[in-house]
This record gives sequence, C-alpha cells and structure tokens, in this order.
Amino acid sequence: MPTPSIILDCDPGHDDALAIVVAARYTNLVGITTVSGNAPIESTTHNALVMKDLLGLKVPVHKGAVRPLVAPPQYAAYVHGESGLDGADLPEPTSKHDSDDAVGYLIDTCRATEGLWLVPTGPLTNIAMALRLAPDLGRRIAGISLMGGGTFGNRTTAAEFNIWVDPEAADVVFNYGGPLVMAGLHLTHQFRATQARIDRVKALPGQLANVLGDLMQFFTDTYMRRHHGMDGGAVHDPCSVLVLSHPDLFVSRPAHVVVELNGTHTRGMTLIDQRDLKEVLEPNCDVLWEIEAEPAFDLMIDAIAHFSR
Ligand code: BDR
Ligand code: CA
Repeated sequence: MPTPSIILDCDPGHDDALAIVVAARYTNLVGITTVSGNAPIESTTHNALVMKDLLGLKVPVHKGAVRPLVAPPQYAAYVHGESGLDGADLPEPTSKHDSDDAVGYLIDTCRATEGLWLVPTGPLTNIAMALRLAPDLGRRIAGISLMGGGTFGNRTTAAEFNIWVDPEAADVVFNYGGPLVMAGLHLTHQFRATQARIDRVKALPGQLANVLGDLMQFFTDTYMRRHHGMDGGAVHDPCSVLVLSHPDLFVSRPAHVVVELNGTHTRGMTLIDQRDLKEVLEPNCDVLWEIEAEPAFDLMIDAIAHFSR
C-alpha cells in the first residue's frame, strides 16, 4: 500500500501531539493546520510548533479558526490543562507559524496536489470552511479521516467534544459526499495509555520520550481521576492517522451518520444508523468499530523511539 499523504488539522492536545508523532513516522505529512478546540488557537498553534521542534520536522504549520462557525468557543482545560499540553516542561518554539490562513493553505495545497487525506483531530471548523469556500475540494482529496462522535458522548451524555464544539462544521463534513472515516469514542476508548504502556515510553532515551512520557502521565491521571473503571487515558487522535497507514489493525463498517444540530440534550450527537433495514440511507461514512490496541500501541511507541534522540 502506498504511504498516504496527509494534512493533519489538530488542536494539541495530548492525544493530538501523539497523532503528530505517528503522522510524521507513518505518513507523508505534508502540513499541519491548527484549530481552536482543546485550548484557544494561540495555544494549540504554539503546541503544534513545540511538537514540530521536538520531532525535528520541516513541515509548515498554519494557524486556523479562532472559533467555531456558529457556537461560542469552548475549550477542554479539564482534560488537557489551560495550556492544552499541561504536565511537561516544554521548550519554547524556535519558529513562528507559517501563516494565519489555514483554510487558504488547505484549499491551495489540496488543489496543487490531488489525492491528499485530510485528518482532523479537533473541531471541524477549518475543514468545513475549506469545503464551503472551495466546492471542488471534495473531489480533489482522497478523503477525510476524522476523530469525533461515537455511540456515546464525553462532553455531554450524547456528544463527543470535537463534534459538540462545532456541530455546524461537523454537519458540513459529514455531508461533503466523499470518502469519510470516523474514529468515534466507542473505538478510541479501546486505545488506552495504561501505566505499563506509559512506563515503556518513559524508559526510552531522549527528550521527546521524556516529554511524551510526562504528557501521557498527566493525561492518564486526569482520565483516571474523572472516570470510573478506566485503566488509562483514551488516546483518541492517533487512531485517525493509524487507520490510513495500518488499516489492517481496524474493523470498520459503512453506515449513514448524521449530526444532531438542534436537540435540547443531544446537540452535537452523531447518529450512526445501524438498522438492519433495506430502506436506510446510503452510507456516507466508514465507521471504525475495533482496533487491535496492542500492536497499534507498539507502533506508536516505535514512532516515539524513532524521533527521540
Ligand atoms: C477529542 O477531544 C479532545 O479533547 C481530544 O484531543 C480528542 O480529539 C476526544 O473527545
Ligand atoms: Ca484533538
């Protein structure tokens, strides 16, 4: 299988930081765009630049949307801390972001190089804006592999954080008409940073492993404090990258998925139609259901080791 070429659209974020690592190792990472989500856009962009330095990457980083399309901005300091990447001593970035126009970058790059995958691991604001401003984009890209939604919620009973933050943007993306892969919570909760896995990262030499070991510890400690019966933080975002580079580790099924925009208690919910009826709407999405967590985690640790000097 050819190596997928991707643009990672992220809001680092502990698990976004790990998505950058696996993207750098197992894909042709063309660029990084940032979005307001886990933390305000200044912080998520800063954190992406920190990761770029720690990995020694040459890729451009473009700063994106400062807020969702319609809803007021919301952050996730209760999971990631105020900085978006609390829990480790991070170096200051050595460079600035390449532009304040992630949407323009997405459009220009997908037009210049057809067949790119877009991998959004935060709210879908940038991707929706790009699809709206450039109606040709949907047929120029290979597809969109996103982290969001699921059969249960985390920010509310019904809604997962990335979709809940910007449901109108998610609605645009789920209706864009091209290949779409969804890593929802029911999948990503199978991919957990247990203490044994974190200790393997901490045992690696080098600055990157040192920083990521601390970040994973903070993330898992937060999860275990907030949840009943979880043995580690759910490392959501790398799943959307790994499904492109290592699809054999996943089980997926096509389904029709819609985003709830209006419910009093269900705004931001993804409804996955699993009815066994002939009359259901055509699938618009490959929904991921299972991940082989052990080999997938091995791949992530190998990627950390590769860049940790
Ligand atoms: C998603 O929300 C964020 O906190 C994580 O980075 C992940 O993308 C999980 O709901
Ligand atoms: Ca994220």
